[in-house]
Amino acid sequence: METTYHIPVLFKESIDALVLNPSGTYIDLTFGGGGHSSGILKALDSKGRLIAFDKDTDAHKNTIDDKRLTLVKHNFRYLKQYLAYLGISKVDGILGDLGISSHQINTDSRGFAHRFNGPLDMRMDPLSSLSAANILDTYSEKELLRVFNEYGEIKNAFKLVHHIIPQQNTGKFDTVESFKHAIETLIPQKDPSKYLSQVFQALRIEVNQEMSDLQTLLEDAAQLLKVDGRLVIISYHSLEDRLVKNLLLKGQLKGRLESDVFGRVSLPFKAEPHKAIIPSEEEISINPRSRSAKMRVGIKLATNE
Ligand SMILES: C[S@@+](CC[C@H](N)C(=O)[O-])C[C@H]1O[C@@H](n2cnc3c(N)ncnc32)[C@H](O)[C@@H]1O
Repeated sequence: METTYHIPVLFKESIDALVLNPSGTYIDLTFGGGGHSSGILKALDSKGRLIAFDKDTDAHKNTIDDKRLTLVKHNFRYLKQYLAYLGISKVDGILGDLGISSHQINTDSRGFAHRFNGPLDMRMDPLSSLSAANILDTYSEKELLRVFNEYGEIKNAFKLVHHIIPQQNTGKFDTVESFKHAIETLIPQKDPSKYLSQVFQALRIEVNQEMSDLQTLLEDAAQLLKVDGRLVIISYHSLEDRLVKNLLLKGQLKGRLESDVFGRVSLPFKAEPHKAIIPSEEEISINPRSRSAKMRVGIKLATNE
């Protein structure tokens, strides 16, 4: 396994929260460098089983030689279908460590980072059809506004979009450098990195359909977990965390408590602890990429059975 591929975040906290039954079946939705997966395997006995997903072919080079592991090159949004295909109806725990790996961000040819030059690609799954350059070239004004407002929370999204539209299909969005050049008059002198990070984050979320994948997964999670099974999600921006928090505290993604005709509220999970767990100062100093992480743990309740 490549040790520089990715340092797992909240490693001990997540494995301790997830694995309560050493003989159980667990899911790692985001294999990456396999750091969390190796922790899960270590906590399992010979009867335990781990099914891990990653849609990036690079991650599969980190596979672990262990017959208890099944590593699949699939989008985790198809977890329900994949488990049905394997004949598994319920699992003991699901872990998701969302977003991109250090390997992805540090590889200039993948186009995730504004500080390197390379094709403006940003696809986690190299076989998917939509790259960041395609989005900039083909999306309408309305669609681009949605992307930059919702996923980047960019203050001057309107100005940015009006800068992009006249330059569509001129080749100016093909590389990171040419894109930065195309929008250079809008990049604030004071904190250029902050602005570019927001623009790149918005594009990355859209390219990889990150919100819709997470939403589908969260909608299916309760029915795939055994009673007392654990849902452990580590997220890196507020949009993702909001969905997870809503599911754990309000029982659905929109964040409204819903009651039945008798006024009873039935929640699929209990958040344990109630608040998100964040990395210690020590972890952040060793691994600065962990600084925005928030981990939430849900215990599957019996009410929905
Ligand atoms: C933050 S990294 C995970 C790192 C991992 N926990 C470790 O210890 O090395 C996220 C990984 O999830 C993958 N990924 C993100 N969204 C995915 C999705 N919807 N389906 C499958 N894999 C996904 C990415 O390709 C990336 O390798």
